[in-house]
Amino acid sequence: MKQLLSADQISRRVAELGTQLAADYRGRPLTVVGVLSGSVVFLADLIRCIDVPHQIGFVEASSYRGRTTTGSELTVSVDRLPDLTGRDVLLIDDILDTGRTLASLKALLAARHPASLRTAVLLWKDGTQQVDFMADYHAFRIPNAFVVGYGLDYNNDYRHRPDIVILEPQDLPSIGLRPSRPD
Ligand code: XMP
Repeated sequence: MKQLLSADQISRRVAELGTQLAADYRGRPLTVVGVLSGSVVFLADLIRCIDVPHQIGFVEASSYRGRTTTGSELTVSVDRLPDLTGRDVLLIDDILDTGRTLASLKALLAARHPASLRTAVLLWKDGTQQVDFMADYHAFRIPNAFVVGYGLDYNNDYRHRPDIVILEPQDLPSIGLRPSRPD
């Protein structure tokens, strides 16, 4: 395992992003919506750095990769989503990879009549986007590698790590690496 981002680097950058968001949303009815489960660590740290009043909510997304298709089907649960009508919504996820998850979730939240709707990700994986979508905010741009820690998982493990590390095939012998949801 190779460390990509230390806990210290993450906390400094998250604080910086929080300050920027506080400036951008000052005086606005902000609701931060986290995508479960990968965004929870990022969201918990970030909201404490957004020094303006705001609400939070969650959506749960899991993707099912069909056997006969190259794409994946996204299943979404909105049970923990508050009313977003007239709110400035900031949708938060751990990582932007193909872009499919956030593009779909953004369309879904747009139908709830927010006053505005933007997205923020902790990590933007460079060069892997498959749809025309870009997050409005990102904390770090990273190379195309499978990463875990700070909320990101492999088979629901490693989320508790305070840093972000690259997981390489030799770290998990005999198991093929593939981004997975539910996360
Ligand atoms: P898309 O491709 O829809 O994917 O942008 C977003 C979701 O895919 C998972 N993902 C990863 N999870 N390490 C992880 O732990 C990674 O490197 C990685 N790349 C994608 C993740 O669930 C993310 O929300």
